[in-house]
Amino acid sequence: MTDNSFFPVKPEIAATAHVNADAYARMYEQSVKDPEGFWGEQGKRLDWIKPYSKVKDVNFHDDVHIRWFHDGTLNVSANCIDRHLATRGDQTAILFEGDDPGVSKAITYRELHEKVSRLANVLKKNGVKKGDRVTIYLPMIPEAAYAMLACTRIGAIHSIVFGGFSPDSLKDRIVDCDSHFVITSDEGLRGGRKVPLKANADKAVAGAPMVKHVLVVKHTGGDVAWTAGRDLWYHEEMESVSADCPPEEMSAEDPLFILYTSGSTGKPKGVLHTTGGYLVYASMTHQYVFDYKDGEVYWCTADVGWVTGHSYIVYGPLANGATTLMFEGIPTYPDVLRFWQVIDKHKVNIFYTAPTAIRSLMREGEGPVKKTSRASLRVLGSVGEPINPEAWMWYYNVVGDARCPIVDTWWQTETGGILITPLVGAIGQKPGSATKPFFGVQPVVVDNEGQILEGETEGNLCIADAWPGMMRTVYGDHERFVQTYFSTFPGKYFTGDGCRRDADGYYWITGRVDDVINVSGHRMGTAEVESALVAHPKVAEAAVVGYPHDLKGQGIYAYVTLNAGEAPTEELRKELVAWVRKEIGPIASPDLIQWAPGLPKTRSGKIMRRILRKIAANEHDSLGDTSTLADPGVVTDLIDNRMNNA
Ligand code: WT7
Repeated sequence: MTDNSFFPVKPEIAATAHVNADAYARMYEQSVKDPEGFWGEQGKRLDWIKPYSKVKDVNFHDDVHIRWFHDGTLNVSANCIDRHLATRGDQTAILFEGDDPGVSKAITYRELHEKVSRLANVLKKNGVKKGDRVTIYLPMIPEAAYAMLACTRIGAIHSIVFGGFSPDSLKDRIVDCDSHFVITSDEGLRGGRKVPLKANADKAVAGAPMVKHVLVVKHTGGDVAWTAGRDLWYHEEMESVSADCPPEEMSAEDPLFILYTSGSTGKPKGVLHTTGGYLVYASMTHQYVFDYKDGEVYWCTADVGWVTGHSYIVYGPLANGATTLMFEGIPTYPDVLRFWQVIDKHKVNIFYTAPTAIRSLMREGEGPVKKTSRASLRVLGSVGEPINPEAWMWYYNVVGDARCPIVDTWWQTETGGILITPLVGAIGQKPGSATKPFFGVQPVVVDNEGQILEGETEGNLCIADAWPGMMRTVYGDHERFVQTYFSTFPGKYFTGDGCRRDADGYYWITGRVDDVINVSGHRMGTAEVESALVAHPKVAEAAVVGYPHDLKGQGIYAYVTLNAGEAPTEELRKELVAWVRKEIGPIASPDLIQWAPGLPKTRSGKIMRRILRKIAANEHDSLGDTSTLADPGVVTDLIDNRMNNA
């Protein structure tokens, strides 16, 4: 419907923005023609201990490696905190809004400095050294940001595991990076419900013998089991150390954090980001994409368990000296006014959320939104999945009162920061399009044979050259990094997404072209859900695909073949859903399970997922070529017994 609508940059916005259309064109051209010069200049936005003389050292072809600013040294916590103390020590750095609307707290840059320094000393006191991995399993409370920054202060590498992941998923992530130190809290709070984080961590650590200490933040005050010698109370440890901890001098290419993300095969992989390039990119994109200006209140509703929380709640905003709001709760608690009330309460200027949240609030109509003012809002952002034009228009007209530009930001855990996006003052918007590349980003669209497609076209989205914020490797498995991202289309970074480029050069992300699905903006590998299902004693085989879901974007559709003699009952269906929740976490719960006496396979035994996707999407009129099926009868049965995705 709105495919042709265009929302040009309003002149009054362009007039005051960091980057207008002319500046965008000029800077973009320089960024791709002379990356050394461009990024050499941009790198100066950080405080370096030893300035870099080298800017870019990248090879996407053979011997894949990516290094930026590599002879420079710096410290991330010093850039996010210490350097702001002289000018904004008393400014709020973190604005905490609790799950309970009665709870909020402002933490100044000076307070942040003290907390982070103390926590860094707590880590040191308990044996954590530069290069060690620290696993963080916390709710959205300020201590999560303190923990991240404390790691960076001493050069430890953090690995945050989203609080919604199961004990088993947590254990796998602890073991994969050989982490000896875990930070958690007694419980989390979400929508008034308690999440047993410490109990989950206890279960995880039971299978991760390398863990020496579990540091526990007292948050809800709920009862926890205690292992003497191993477990430490955060509040006691913080009192036992000094508030002085000089930042460690780190090389630009020293690891900063690991973040596990799902791929099309195997277990989640540890995406590794490094220090200098990541921070330059996070800080620059935060400033330019949102047109962030000094003194503004900025709110990203993500969780620090995802990359959005890393780059756009903590590192980007704090590097820029912003006031960043951290929200513990959910959009619908205590009721559906919550987001808009928080915006009014804290006078939020820039608001960044996910399409799934917008869709769920849109269902409630305009009424609740219009009970609030939202006059402080200046810029709206969207991230995590394609935003459908209807949701875009509602966000624009109802939430933003047709006043605020929307930046639909496309990026990935791997990219570290935003790659394709409008810039508030420079790029007019088309609802549903992520629009144009950020500086230094060279998108290319290729066909399945890897031929570059020019002009108006559709195909696989690759990026031709490196940008400073991109991942450097898969932790402990560089070969997997090369295989996953640089082998499908040799010499290019392959995103796993499909896209269309229109006649104006605007990019429209069409979704994943691999076996990764996107459920409410959360990324899930179908292989992970399948392996959880087949681990159940009654399941013989399982195939999982995504299907269009009104609220979640994609839902999880599982085809399950039971062992001979097992009866397909409603109880078993519920049991399998609960089983997957327990194995991976609630975000992996199948929405629909169809009993499949057989799965469509080729004669060589490969499951034909394309067909399963079509059936799940209710598009069985267009199954495509089925001539290679070993047993066409299987497909007829699956179509006849398809689940209703109501
Ligand atoms: C995948 C990455 C980016 C941080 C949060 C998700 C999809 C992300 C958009 C967007 C269309 C989007 C892509 C991408 N995606 N943003 N604005 N428009 N699709 O990070 O968990 O690594 O997932 O999310 O499919 O590949 P992630």
